[in-house]
Amino acid sequence: MTGDGRGLSHIDGRPVWIHGALPGERVSFIYTRVARKRDEGRVEQVLEAAADRVTPQCDRFGVCGGCSLQHQDPTAQILAKQQSLLDAFSRSGGLTPREILGPLKEHQPWGYRTKARLGVKYVEKKGRVLVGFRERGSGFITETEACPVLDARVAHLHGPLGELVLGLSIRDRIPQIEIAMGDQACVLVFRVLDAPSAEDIRSLEAFGAEHQVHPYLQTGGPDSVCSLSSNAAGLSYSLPDHDLSMSFQPGDFTQVNQGMNRLMVNRAIDLLDPSPGDRVLDLFCGLGNFTLPLARRAREVVGIEGDTGLIERARENARDNRIGNARFFAADLYGSLGRESWMSEPFDLALLDPPRSGALEVLEHLAGLGVTRILYISCNPETLARDGAELVNRHGYGLTSAGVMDMFPHTHHVESVALFERQPAAGGGGP
Ligand SMILES: C[S@@+](CC[C@H](N)C(=O)[O-])C[C@H]1O[C@@H](n2cnc3c(N)ncnc32)[C@H](O)[C@@H]1O
Repeated sequence: MTGDGRGLSHIDGRPVWIHGALPGERVSFIYTRVARKRDEGRVEQVLEAAADRVTPQCDRFGVCGGCSLQHQDPTAQILAKQQSLLDAFSRSGGLTPREILGPLKEHQPWGYRTKARLGVKYVEKKGRVLVGFRERGSGFITETEACPVLDARVAHLHGPLGELVLGLSIRDRIPQIEIAMGDQACVLVFRVLDAPSAEDIRSLEAFGAEHQVHPYLQTGGPDSVCSLSSNAAGLSYSLPDHDLSMSFQPGDFTQVNQGMNRLMVNRAIDLLDPSPGDRVLDLFCGLGNFTLPLARRAREVVGIEGDTGLIERARENARDNRIGNARFFAADLYGSLGRESWMSEPFDLALLDPPRSGALEVLEHLAGLGVTRILYISCNPETLARDGAELVNRHGYGLTSAGVMDMFPHTHHVESVALFERQPAAGGGGP
C-alpha cells in the first residue's frame, strides 16, 4: 500500500496508485490521473477480494476525504502500519528494532475522534447548508447525516448544524466549525466572517442548550476564539492512572483520540521508565501531556514547547494538579538553542513528540546533553526513521524497541513510538 492508503500496482512497469484496492487482490479500476512519475486510479470492481477486505461502516466511504481504510479489517490496518514503520526504518540506514512492540489499540476503533474541523457550505440552489468533512480530492463538502469515527456526542450533528446555520442571517459567511471535546464539555467554534445578529446569537445559544454543546465564535485569528456565554466551557481530559486532570482551550493542540492517548501515555512512561532520581527533558511538550505523568515518577521534568499559550496551560495544569517538580519553557526547537538556560542542565532521559516534520534540528543538542534513553513519539514514520538513523549512526544510540499505536483508525495516519538507548562506547571509537 502507499503511505496514504492506496493499493499500489504496476502496469507495464509503471506504478499505479489505486484508491480502494488492497494488497493481494485483483481489481478492475478506472484511471483518474496519468502523470509522468505515476498513474492513479479508483477501483471499479473487486474481482478477487483480499482476506482482510470488510464492508465499510460509513455509506460515504470513498467519497469523504476523512477516512481511507474502512474497507480493510482494523487489525490488518494496524499491522500494515506496523510494516510501514519497519520498512521506513529499514530504508533509513538499515535500522531494525531489537524488539517490535505489539500494536497498541483499543477494543473498538469507532467513535474515537474528539477533535475535528468540519467544512460548512450554503448551497443556494438546494436551499441547504452542508456540514461535514471535505470530499476526497475536492473542496466540496461530503453530504452526510452522521460520521462513525467522530465521538458519539457529535457524530449525528451534521444535519442539525446545517439547519442551524441555514436559519442564521450569516448563513453564507460561516466557512467552518471546529469541534473540541473534553471528557465532559464539548465546544463548537463557529468561524464567522461577519458579525452574527442578536437573533443569530439566540439561535446559537438555543442550539447549544438543546444539544449540550458550548458554541464559541472565531471572528479572526486563533486569538479571537471566545465563548458565547460569559462562562468558558471548562474543557479537560483526565489521565486517571496518573491522577491528573488536564485543562485546555478549544484551539490548543491535544491528541485527537483520548482513549488511545491514555494508553500511549502509559506506554511512554513504561518504556522510558524514569527512576525517582532522574531528571527528564520533554521536548514538544504541548500542555504537559507527557510531562506531568513523568513528573509523578521522576525527580524533575523540564518541558519545552513553541506555543506560548500551551506553555501557560502546562504551568496551570502543573499547579492545579499540585505538581511542583515540572518546569516549562517556551522555545523554538527548530531554531538555535545555544542560549537556552535549560540546555546547560544535566538530564538523564528525554522524550520527544515533534510534529510531522520531525526533530532533526534538535538531535545534535539532545545527544550533547548525554541522556541515556530517548523516547521518540511520532506521527510520521519517515521522519522518525530519518531521525532514528541519525541517533544510531551519528550519536551512538541503539534502537531498543519500536511499535505502532492505533491513534487514527480507518485513516492512513500512523502514530509510533521508538526507544533509543545510548550504547557503551566501543574501544576507543565512541560516539
Ligand atoms: C505532536 S504535538 C505534541 C504535543 C504534546 N506532547 C502532547 O502529547 O499533547 C507537537 C507539538 O510541537 C509543538 N511545536 C511545533 N513546532 C515547534 C517548534 N518549532 N518549537 C517548539 N515546539 C513546536 C506544537 O505546538 C505541538 O504542541
